[in-house]
Amino acid sequence: DHKGTDSGLLQCLHQFLPGSSSPSLPGPPSFPPIGNMMELTHDHLPIHLTSLAQRYGHIYRLKCGNTTMVVLNSSDVIREALVKKWSDFAGRPVSYTADIVSGGGHTISLGDYNEEWRAHRRLVHSALQRCCQQSLHDVIERQALHLRKVLMEYKGSAVDLSEDFTVAASNVITTLAFGKEYDKSSLELQQLHSCLNEIVALWGSSWISVLDSFPVLRKLPNPVFSRLLKEVARRDEIIRKHLNNYKSQERKNEDAITGSLLQGLEKQHDTEQGVLLTDVHVHMATVDLLIGGTETTAAWLSWTVAFLLHRPEVQTKVYEEMCAVLEGRYPKYSDRHRLPVLCALVHEVLRLRPVAPLAVPHRAIRDSSIAGYFIPKNTVIIPNLFGAHHDPAVWPDPYSFKPERFLEGGGGSTRALIPFGGGARLCLGESVARMELFLFTGYLLRDFQFVPPEREASLPDLRGVASVVLKVKSYTVTARPRAVPNP
Ligand code: HEM
Repeated sequence: DHKGTDSGLLQCLHQFLPGSSSPSLPGPPSFPPIGNMMELTHDHLPIHLTSLAQRYGHIYRLKCGNTTMVVLNSSDVIREALVKKWSDFAGRPVSYTADIVSGGGHTISLGDYNEEWRAHRRLVHSALQRCCQQSLHDVIERQALHLRKVLMEYKGSAVDLSEDFTVAASNVITTLAFGKEYDKSSLELQQLHSCLNEIVALWGSSWISVLDSFPVLRKLPNPVFSRLLKEVARRDEIIRKHLNNYKSQERKNEDAITGSLLQGLEKQHDTEQGVLLTDVHVHMATVDLLIGGTETTAAWLSWTVAFLLHRPEVQTKVYEEMCAVLEGRYPKYSDRHRLPVLCALVHEVLRLRPVAPLAVPHRAIRDSSIAGYFIPKNTVIIPNLFGAHHDPAVWPDPYSFKPERFLEGGGGSTRALIPFGGGARLCLGESVARMELFLFTGYLLRDFQFVPPEREASLPDLRGVASVVLKVKSYTVTARPRAVPNP
């Protein structure tokens, strides 16, 4: 539990002995007033930041307007900042546009570190825990079986599965959140997704981020920004409707997180802890779960199938392992220790395509240090998880898809994997995600063999499209049913 004890000393050293004890951070030449802004507009930022690490090392700085960003590119330096010195780096950059998408900083993901945020995260964490213990396994199994049905109905034709994966992942979250699942054709579901996707895409666009670095531009008309405001209003309207619906139900789904959260609010009134959480926090927690839990899991599933098309023998190994261990039944999450090949596949896809490749930016809430470099308060920290997972010092042949590296004797250690970040800001949905990735993959590979469409000359492009979420370019695939007995 690091409390930043060395920060006062570091600050003194930095002020009085500049350069002598704490070297200045390396980084590409910066040109005022834009600094290194051009480095940040690269089309595949994680790959670009990783290539800069080859030149400048595991830790380097970039300047953007008045902000200094420090990019961390190995799992050791990322852990030093996020886990060992978590209390120095648990902040989020406070920004004009983040405030707009997070209802004034009231989401967990974008809210800055303070007492209110801690109480909010605690409330949602315990509601999620309760729900993971009680109903998560059943909820995922149900969606996995539904996905099976959908794939069967394609009858071996070539299809793009990304939307079906999104519906499956999203139904897990909406069932957990307010006990509701949707059909792919549901207008309401489409509206919800289109607006959440728009918000994430618009917020990631340089038309928007430029407003944070250069406030003067906020006075000019900006059609992209107007669209963002409209989508945020639409999102809030949809979620408000759901929460009101939930509250007015006679027979409430007791398992739903919304119920636990609302109960949590009441308990808090009874114990009076100084911070008062309200309906706004329940509303924004729902936004967090929907945004954090839908595109991430869905993108990961699309990546898995894409990689498996490139190495079909891996599917066979996973399938044979399941046949031998489970004798025809579907896997349970508790079987994971007996299914090392399936687990190795999950780990390798998390390594190669951590779907939140740059996590979410952190902010130093006090002066501190990383890898011996002085890091002043308010520095923005970018954990380059993609870079850490491609570090050649840790991963031999880092760009190759080799699940066998995680099998006994393969040399790969899950300790160096950090796809969910760590410390105070560890992904709130990690346990939900891990169970989903394992069960969805197990169910899919038990029932189907994924093959490239017959007339397709090329396999999926594995480079990906990076925004906040790292996605695979759309591709089509044939899901060929395996000859196994029906459940
Ligand atoms: C944050 C990864 C699925 C909810 C994060 C972060 C990462 C991440 C890297 C940022 C950590 C940081 O700031 O250092 C992933 C991956 C997933 C996944 C790889 C799936 C493959 C989910 C799911 C949920 C979720 C299913 C919800 C049920 C959140 C939330 C945060 C977060 C609320 C913000 C935490 C905070 O700021 O304190 N996730 N995530 N994620 N994730 Fe996930």
